Amino acid sequence: MQALNKKTIEDINPENKKVLVRCDFNVPITDGKIDDSKRIVESLPTIKYLAEKGAKIILCSHLGRPKGEFNKKYSLKIVAEKLTELLGKEIIMANDVIGDDAKAKSAALKPGEIMLIENVRFHNEEEKNDPEFSKALASLAEIYVNDAFGTAHRAHSSTAGVSDYLPAVAGYLINKEISVMGGALSNPKRPFVAILGGAKVSDKIGVITNLLDKVDTLLIGGAMAYTFIKANGGKVGDSLCEDEKLDIARDIVEKAKSKNIRLLIPIDHVIADEFKNDANKKICFGACISDGWEGLDIGPETINLFSGVIKDAGTIVWNGPMGVFEFDNFATGTKEIARAVAESGAVSIIGGGDSAAAVEKLGFAEKVTHISTGGGAALEFLEGIELPGITCLQDK
Ligand code: 3PG
Repeated sequence: MQALNKKTIEDINPENKKVLVRCDFNVPITDGKIDDSKRIVESLPTIKYLAEKGAKIILCSHLGRPKGEFNKKYSLKIVAEKLTELLGKEIIMANDVIGDDAKAKSAALKPGEIMLIENVRFHNEEEKNDPEFSKALASLAEIYVNDAFGTAHRAHSSTAGVSDYLPAVAGYLINKEISVMGGALSNPKRPFVAILGGAKVSDKIGVITNLLDKVDTLLIGGAMAYTFIKANGGKVGDSLCEDEKLDIARDIVEKAKSKNIRLLIPIDHVIADEFKNDANKKICFGACISDGWEGLDIGPETINLFSGVIKDAGTIVWNGPMGVFEFDNFATGTKEIARAVAESGAVSIIGGGDSAAAVEKLGFAEKVTHISTGGGAALEFLEGIELPGITCLQDK
């Protein structure tokens, strides 16, 4: 598992130093408005701490996938405006990444001032982790802080490469993410319950395999459950199912049995005659979904079964929705599991992505212990994979 013994911003003296801070400002934007500022808000403790200590702060991030060229749609100016609003202090915006404007503005920074350079993915060298680009980025500063947990699974110039040229430490957000999630995985309060959902077993094989060595109970929902149901000999009708993964599903069931882990799959389903919100729907009990029908949510008996397990849990890790929660008519399973997790009293960790969006959308965010800011990064962390953006930081 990822080492937790990395130096943080509290182990360095940033006073009067130019500090390059990699944040994950990859936020959802619709019609020129930020839909969810969580990632920006979560970066504030690091930025405020460095400003108070008299650092000259140079923030950087990616936004979207602009494919290596300038594209106004992916400009970070909108993030600079949000930061200015949240910090009540002007954020100096550079018009480029490593060009004349970024160089001049970073050289002119005074202690406590904060600037943001443009989207690092306006250069295709960023994603290639190109040494020359990393060096140019590093030359803007004297210290590197990585606080972009959501991008820590990428070995790019701004998330890893720059650490070859600057002393590199973790910000508060990365430190919080790896302490909370790492703590839960290495020393969980028991019973330890993992809830896994989402569309595909193939996306979750790594997480399941890693968690099978740690949890007491594994609850499986979402479309991936239909692969398990079919693997057990059940009928799934037109439900999403990965036929080429049936052996893997059987193997997981066997491993769980041999390790004495309770693996529960849905016992009833909300099925629909089409993949749309206003499709005809009904409840199907058991593993016998007819052709022409597909499962889009877990049913009421499954909600009861899973909620009972969740109620008694000491630690919960949840990744992936229980059904097609973006369709209101098939959101009940995800909503009720979110409610059960929020009301459980357990240490509860939502591993980013869709389940995090569901918990936020349903208004339970304040009631869970931790919602990760990483989607892919949280998943890889839960898989036990070392994240390059964390591995590259200095050990304590
Ligand atoms: C994310 O949103 O998961 C991160 O910001 C990483 O973005 P990416 O998948 O485009 O690398």
